[in-house]
Amino acid sequence: MNVAILGVGTVGNEVANVLIRNQKLISARSGMHIVPVIGVVRDLKKARNSQIPLTDDIDSVINRDDIDVYVELMGGIEKPYEIVSKILAKNKPVVTANKAMLAYHRNELERLAGDTPFGYEASVAGGIPIIKALREGLSANHIQKIVGIMNGTSNYILTNMMQRGVKFDEALKKAQELGYAEADPTFDVGGFDTAHKLLILASLAYSVHAKPEDILIEGISDITNEDIYFANEFEYAIKLLAVAKRRDDKVELRVHPALIQKDKMIAKVDGVMNAVSVSGDAVGESLFYGAGAGGSATASAVISDLIDIAREVKNPMLGYKAPLEILPLGLFKPNEIKTKYYLRLKVADEIGVLANITNLMSQNNLSIDSFLQKPRTDKNSDCSTLYFTTHTCLEADMLRVVGLLEKENYIKDKPFMIRIEE
Ligand SMILES: NC(=O)c1ccc[n+]([C@@H]2O[C@H](COP(=O)([O-])OP(=O)(O)OC[C@H]3O[C@@H](n4cnc5c(N)ncnc54)[C@H](OP(=O)(O)O)[C@@H]3O)[C@@H](O)[C@H]2O)c1
Repeated sequence: MNVAILGVGTVGNEVANVLIRNQKLISARSGMHIVPVIGVVRDLKKARNSQIPLTDDIDSVINRDDIDVYVELMGGIEKPYEIVSKILAKNKPVVTANKAMLAYHRNELERLAGDTPFGYEASVAGGIPIIKALREGLSANHIQKIVGIMNGTSNYILTNMMQRGVKFDEALKKAQELGYAEADPTFDVGGFDTAHKLLILASLAYSVHAKPEDILIEGISDITNEDIYFANEFEYAIKLLAVAKRRDDKVELRVHPALIQKDKMIAKVDGVMNAVSVSGDAVGESLFYGAGAGGSATASAVISDLIDIAREVKNPMLGYKAPLEILPLGLFKPNEIKTKYYLRLKVADEIGVLANITNLMSQNNLSIDSFLQKPRTDKNSDCSTLYFTTHTCLEADMLRVVGLLEKENYIKDKPFMIRIEE
């Protein structure tokens, strides 16, 4: 089986390396010699260590008759979508790790592919076989909930903030020095990368065809050491979570930092590691843990798709052979989300402030679960920091309270909330 690798960067180069290094094993498992015959790059002059021939002429590769499968590892959204569409139009199988392209175009790609194999195991949580788990191993279940830590950069930063007490900027700098974070980290720390992965999982779990702009996406850059103080005090970890949760006949999809009790398994997932917890009505909770990125782990997932193609495994791309007519699940709007909240308020240290805040909360359907006032360390300051947690309430009510508090004179900084995941 001849393979063309479109994009021979971090992942593409490792796909070629592992195919060559593990050739005998892969042949025995797949029943075929899977051979990376050509790679495509943008800049042929770049110094690189490739074991396969390279070209910068992508059209010539797409038009070759001797290529059996194309592996798209270029990155981007529209350009790879255009290229993959051309390949599928020729009924040639495609494997990709490109979550951004899938976040926007997975349904069009499913239609274009038809019966032509289309693999994307590597697009979510790198080396963890979560696509196969949802599409195959757990396919008997109504999925009640998925909770994932699916961005190693953000998890590394938050772990450093919690364990070493460093500020966000310092933890980000360290992540960049170690090569975990890009020069422009917005995509990772802003939650967008996680959201792309969540949307792919939501299609498999619920047949929900949302796009990134339809769901709540918040990043981790506003988390301060004050929040870390509270989390440690109350035995919580702070994680950037992807949450897909079914409530009645609708689904919540959201990405945001969350407080999770430290004794939960997913709260113990530290550093660059990823984990996805899936709860199904028949199976209960399963937790998948492993390397979420990196050339080698991602190549492992790409090659598992190539082996499936060689074995002629036929799975419906997004997990459904027929429309899910028994239960068309809708999507909750972001302000319809229901959860518990943590709220941090910097206030003037004056009589009546606390009573005012609690009245405002109760008038807007927020019920307080716990309250903490941090002892003032700066004797010259006339401000205090108040921390509240609420019982489960509606996001719209919480946002209204935050908006009302912002207008109060005694509030000395922008109120900050973090959702609490049970
Ligand atoms: N890195 C990871 O750990 C990881 C994990 C999971 C998923 N992914 C996904 O895997 C894909 C590849 O990621 P990566 O980290 O390997 O990226 P990368 O290191 O930047 O490599 C991209 C490769 O594609 C080539 N390329 C880009 N645009 C091209 C174009 N228009 N025509 C021809 N070649 C082009 C580049 O050529 P040059 O070398 O000449 O620049 C480079 O070889 C992305 O979709 C990413 O989201 C990556």
